[in-house]
Amino acid sequence: MQRYELEESLKEEIRARVLGAGFMKLVQSVRRGGGVFRISMRPVEIGGRRMFQAEMSEGRDTRVKNLDDAGAAEGLEEIIAQKGARDLHLMTAKGDLHVRVTKKGHVLVSRSAEMDRVAKTQPHDRVKDVPLGRFDSTALLRAIGIADGSGAVRASMRGKYDQINEFLRVVGDSVRPAPGPGGEGGFVAVDCGCGKAYLTIALYFYLSEALGFENVRIVGVDRREDVVAAARKTAENLDVADRVVFAEANLADFGAKELAAAVGADGGATVRPDLVCSLHACDTATDEALAKGVEWGARYVFSAPCCQHELQKTISGTGAAAPFAGLLRQSILRERLCDILTDSFRAMLMRVMGYKTQVIEFVSPGATARNIMLKCESGAKSGQPGPVGEYLELRDYWKVVPWLETRLGRLVEKHLSRYG
Ligand SMILES: C[S@@+](CC[C@H](N)C(=O)[O-])C[C@H]1O[C@@H](n2cnc3c(N)ncnc32)[C@H](O)[C@@H]1O
Repeated sequence: MQRYELEESLKEEIRARVLGAGFMKLVQSVRRGGGVFRISMRPVEIGGRRMFQAEMSEGRDTRVKNLDDAGAAEGLEEIIAQKGARDLHLMTAKGDLHVRVTKKGHVLVSRSAEMDRVAKTQPHDRVKDVPLGRFDSTALLRAIGIADGSGAVRASMRGKYDQINEFLRVVGDSVRPAPGPGGEGGFVAVDCGCGKAYLTIALYFYLSEALGFENVRIVGVDRREDVVAAARKTAENLDVADRVVFAEANLADFGAKELAAAVGADGGATVRPDLVCSLHACDTATDEALAKGVEWGARYVFSAPCCQHELQKTISGTGAAAPFAGLLRQSILRERLCDILTDSFRAMLMRVMGYKTQVIEFVSPGATARNIMLKCESGAKSGQPGPVGEYLELRDYWKVVPWLETRLGRLVEKHLSRYG
C-alpha cells in the first residue's frame, strides 16, 4: 500500500455510504500549495431524477458538476485516490464517518454512534438559481472567456458573469414566445453594440435551452471589425453560427433591410424582432438601440445604458441651468445629473412611443456602476397626453433637446406637436 492510501475495507465502506441509501453529504479538504482544495458531493434531484452534485473549490474558483450514478462512482474513486494530507467527512442518515490522513500518511478513522436521520435530496435549483445555471453553460462560459479551462468563473470576469445572469433573469421574467417574423413562429433578438458577444450568445442558449423557445435567431451588431470577428469565431466554436449571426456596422446604418438580410428573411421580408437589447452600448448608441426597437416595432426593448456625454455638452449653456451652477461646476455631480436626466428623457420618450417602461437596477452596483436598465414592453397606446405632457414639461424646463427625440424625428414629433 502506498503512503496516503486508504485500506481496501475503508474504501469499500466509503463507496457503500455514498452510493447506497441514506447518503447526505461528503466533504473532503486537501491541503496543497499553501491553500485548500475542497470537494463536496451531495444528492440532488434534477428533473425528478436523483443525481449527485459535485462542487470543487480552490481559492476563489468554484466549479459545479451534476453527475449521474456512473459519473458519481467515477468521481468518488478520484476523491478516494486523492494524495496528501486531507480530511474527509461523510454524512449518511445512519451516522458520520471521519477520515483524517496526516502529513506523514497516517490514516485516522472515527465513526459516530448510529443515528436515525432523514436524508433529504435537495432540489437542484437551491444552489443554481441563476439563469446561466438553468442549462449546461460550461462550454459557453469557457468559449466566451468568462470561465477558465477548468470551468471556474474567472475572478476578473465575475462582474460580467453577474451582469449577464441578471440581464437574462429580466429576459426570462418578461418575454413570452410569440409568432415571430412573418408570423412563421420563432424568436428574433437584436443585440446592439454586442462587443465580444457575451450577452448575445448567452441569450441564444438561455432562450432556446433554458426557456425552450423554438427557432431562436440572434443578431449581434457592432461597428468594430475585431470584436465582430471574435464573436463570429465564438459562435462557430459553439456550433451556433447559423443561429447567432453578426453584422459589422454602425447601428445608425443598420436598418430594416440589413436586419432582414442578417436573419435571411425570404425575399427581404420585413422582420419585426421580438427583442432589441443593448448592454452598455456607448453614449448615443443606447439611443440608437431604443430608436431601432421603436422603428422595427420590437415587442420588447431592454437597454442598460453606458456612459453618456450628449446632454453634458449642452446643459450648462441653457437658461434653466443658472440656479444649478454650483452643482454643474462639480464634474461628478454634473455627470450624475445628466445621466439621470438622459435616462428620464429616454424612459419618457419610450412611454410616448407606446412602450410600458420601467427603469430598474438590473444588477447590483458591485457588478457594475452602470446598473440601470430601461425595460420597455410594447402594447400601450402611443402619443397619450399624460406621457407627452410629462416629457414636454421636463424637456422645456431644461431647455434641451434630448438626442433620442432628435433621432426619432417625425415618429415622435407628430405626437409632441399635438400638445406642444
Ligand atoms: C462597452 S462595449 C459593450 C459590449 C457588450 N454589449 C458587453 O456588454 O460586453 C460597447 C460596444 O458598443 C459598440 N458600439 C458603440 N457605438 C456603436 C455604434 N454606433 N454602432 C455599433 N456599435 C457601437 C462598441 O464598438 C463596443 O463594442
